[in-house]
Amino acid sequence: MPNFQNYDVLIIGSGGAGLTLALKLAEHSMRIAVLSKFALTAGSTYYAQGGISAVFGADDSIESHIEDTLDAGAGLCDPEIVRLTVTHGKSSIDWLREQGVVFTQEQTPSGESKLHLNREGGHSHRRIVHTADATGKAVSLSLIERAREHANIELFEHHNVVELITSSREAKKRILGAYVLDSTKQQVRTIAARVVVLATGGASKAYLYSTNPQSATGDGIALAWRAGCRVSNMEFMQFHPTCLYHPHAHSFLISEAVRGEGGKLILPDGSPFMQNFDPREELAPRDIVARAIDHEMKKRGIDCVYLDISHKSEQFIREHFPTIYQQCLEFDIDITKQPIPVVPAAHYTCGGVLTDSYARTDIANLYAIGEVACTGLHGANRMASNSLLECLVFAERASEDILQNLLGISPPPPIPDWDESKVGDSDEEVVVSHNWDELRRFMWDYVGIVRTDKRLSRAMNRVELLKKEIAEYYSNFRVTSDLLELRNLVIVAELIIRCAQQRKESRGLHYTLDYPETDNSKPAQNTVLTPCPTERR
Ligand code: FAD
Ligand code: SIN
Repeated sequence: MPNFQNYDVLIIGSGGAGLTLALKLAEHSMRIAVLSKFALTAGSTYYAQGGISAVFGADDSIESHIEDTLDAGAGLCDPEIVRLTVTHGKSSIDWLREQGVVFTQEQTPSGESKLHLNREGGHSHRRIVHTADATGKAVSLSLIERAREHANIELFEHHNVVELITSSREAKKRILGAYVLDSTKQQVRTIAARVVVLATGGASKAYLYSTNPQSATGDGIALAWRAGCRVSNMEFMQFHPTCLYHPHAHSFLISEAVRGEGGKLILPDGSPFMQNFDPREELAPRDIVARAIDHEMKKRGIDCVYLDISHKSEQFIREHFPTIYQQCLEFDIDITKQPIPVVPAAHYTCGGVLTDSYARTDIANLYAIGEVACTGLHGANRMASNSLLECLVFAERASEDILQNLLGISPPPPIPDWDESKVGDSDEEVVVSHNWDELRRFMWDYVGIVRTDKRLSRAMNRVELLKKEIAEYYSNFRVTSDLLELRNLVIVAELIIRCAQQRKESRGLHYTLDYPETDNSKPAQNTVLTPCPTERR
């Protein structure tokens, strides 16, 4: 790739959101670049297990899916966005099937084949379309294969965006492209584009324990914030209740679908406890289940609780959960015979870059889709399997808006090259790795499932110190992938803490001992942060 490239549309991210958009646009005559900072399969999409929510069940309805989503979102979902998303469920699944994704089927009593539907927390009906327990892998591989076939799409692996480039001359700021580090050559390139789309996924790697892959460092949120976009609802970081607890298991999720099929949460002595927290027990929304586990672990001083599905037949378990069965077996846990040790872990970023119903951000021609965005769908707590649906629906919405407007957008003016004349090679990489560890640990300890004002202000003090140290490092040394991620993570951590400090109540995923009740005395408010020019660098 030459040092300067020009595209119609630059999509940053090759997960479900980014590739869906690329494929929708590629039907029209335009040049599209898709970047991934690691391999194309690096994002969370590849690891999704449970599935994609959509109304297919004979007894189910759009109204019921809307109601469940609003209920899980604890008063903060945007009802119009919820309706828009949910009504596109079936067409989104149909589109994926056209791309070659094969979903798990079941036989009806009359011998016909139909989609098998999983059940997950917060859903009052079976409505999760899935490919056994590896839905994301099936989606990801099909979309990558389709994208590789398209002449209009160019895919770039190991290309990490350093900074967005914007123009400040026009009345409304406009996107011009991005500076991108080619990590294989350690070279920063300039990519100009008429339209740029952030599809960079979430920020759960801000926490020590997370179900997410390495890529989830909130880069898109930090890039958009530095460029001048508003960010919303970052206090609502979702902790998945059941991540495998084993010293050698890194970030392995035990799908909520296991509870959907009757898995029981139990204490080390075998007694169940969810009945003490919510009448829906194991199938209550995630915030409730994760908090219940956290409560039991802290009260009893135990390292984990257990999830038991062993009452189901071996055949059922191996058929429905082949990946989980196999992965646990590698750690000598036979889930057909024994309970699975589990702990909550950071899983999903409900907040993000504020967008409208066409995925537009505050900067002209800059869009944000998928987990990086805050569309209003999830409110204070995302319901299971609504995320992949959001990726598909908002990729389509962005494509409609881009197609409508692209012809009217002039090509970007000349952009100066990335200037490395004043920096040298780093002499102390340990600073980066140390700060990574420190940040993720204090975020876990102070800004986790249960918060207090004091813990939040302790975390903020540390963020201020790290920010200074990282800024100094960034201005003196050549950028590396690790440094870029750390620089983004510290901004994301700050945004999470600032949002959490503003919310003087407990709601959805944000729970604080200082304000343990939900404030129902006034209408629920989103938290919106606006960057001021001095804090952007
Ligand atoms: P991702 O799939 O995370 O992709 C992000 C992309 O951006 C990657 O290509 C990455 O390389 C790229 N990128 C990031 N930063 C940069 C940068 N600076 N420069 C260049 N490229 C960059 N949701 C569901 O609805 N159903 C499920 O069953 C489900 N199960 C899940 C299981 C697990 C283990 C996890 C972690 C999540 C699960 N989720 C599930 C959530 C869901 O998978 C994600 O929210 C969704 O896949 C996000 O898709 P995305 O396209 O927005 O981002
Ligand atoms: C899971 O399978 O439990 C994850 C589903 C999700 O995050 O939506």
